[in-house]
Amino acid sequence: MILCSNPAFQYQSYEKEIDDAVKRVLKSGWFILGKEVKSFEDEFAKYIGVNFAKGVGSGTDAIMLALKALRIGTGDEVITVSHTAVATVAAIEMTGAKAVMADIDEEFYTLDPAKIEAAITERTKAIVVVHLYGQSADLDAVMQIAKKYKLRVVEDCAQAHGAMYKNKRVGSIGDVGCFSFYPTKNLGALGDGGMVVANDAELAERVEMLRQYGWKQRYISEFAGVNSRLDELQAAILRVKISHLDADNAKRMRIAEMYDKQLCGTDLILPKKRKDCSHVYHLYVVRMKKRDELMQYMKDREIMAAIHYPLPVHLQPAYKNGQKLEVTEKIAKEILSLPMYPELGDAEAQKTIDVIKEFCK
Ligand SMILES: Cc1ncc(COP(=O)(O)O)c(C=O)c1O
Repeated sequence: MILCSNPAFQYQSYEKEIDDAVKRVLKSGWFILGKEVKSFEDEFAKYIGVNFAKGVGSGTDAIMLALKALRIGTGDEVITVSHTAVATVAAIEMTGAKAVMADIDEEFYTLDPAKIEAAITERTKAIVVVHLYGQSADLDAVMQIAKKYKLRVVEDCAQAHGAMYKNKRVGSIGDVGCFSFYPTKNLGALGDGGMVVANDAELAERVEMLRQYGWKQRYISEFAGVNSRLDELQAAILRVKISHLDADNAKRMRIAEMYDKQLCGTDLILPKKRKDCSHVYHLYVVRMKKRDELMQYMKDREIMAAIHYPLPVHLQPAYKNGQKLEVTEKIAKEILSLPMYPELGDAEAQKTIDVIKEFCK
């Protein structure tokens, strides 16, 4: 059976290093906000190219806390996309703000800058721009609109650890960057975890306080916060994994190259790479009119593809708002994520290619 993603293999790849890291934490007797989290925050900030990184409980919390740190909440509006993990919209709404969803472009499936201005009202405070599938959105255009309307930019980098936008890492360009360490992510923990990155010291300090009850000094809440901390075990594991992130991303790129080369000329629409940027292929997403038939054909041959995401957020029962987003709704019926993870072998990638080609004949 070939799975779409398989985080179990990551542990097998780095078993000894992870076991040693876990033991180190277990023996230390310190499990929350200690040396491992601090070291990982420093290593992560350096990797992304920002001044500060603050570990939090999840990627969803990272977005929610970043918005709160920007003083966004009830009565405000935040523009984002509907073609994303529901977490992006859930995080916005957790602050009390309203998520206003804009359409994506049909080439890269990220926020269409041409659709932003129509979504701006006098209540709009920020844009949460999602770097979907492993590559950045059109950041120059988004930053330009944000500047014109004095909006803050939150980068949702949950699917793009290490991806470059021109010569910078995603997460270092907007006001604040948010990452998830969900196990299947390019940088994944063995549980939940997230990170907020920023260059601004005051903003970083607010995130640090918000993640722990608004404390600067222990037991004294200066403002209302939450409990959303990255734990020492996950931080120690992530310190091992970040040292392999570039190599793991390179393995994903190599598999993508195999797919690109051998699937071109079939009925599939293949993923496009943005010029002067890197794609770290969190997911390799193709499009096809007969998507459901292809998915079943692959499943019958023990290859599990997946759909990210089958129902756009603005059509889900919890967030239904009567909006019509043409491109989002169209591609949701056509997208299919092929098996993609660093440990996917050549033989498995080749079998996937052969089965798809057989279907397309
Ligand atoms: C685009 C996007 N944003 C946010 C999240 C939320 O991350 P988490 O699952 O760590 O809360 C995810 C992952 O599920 C995601 O893919």
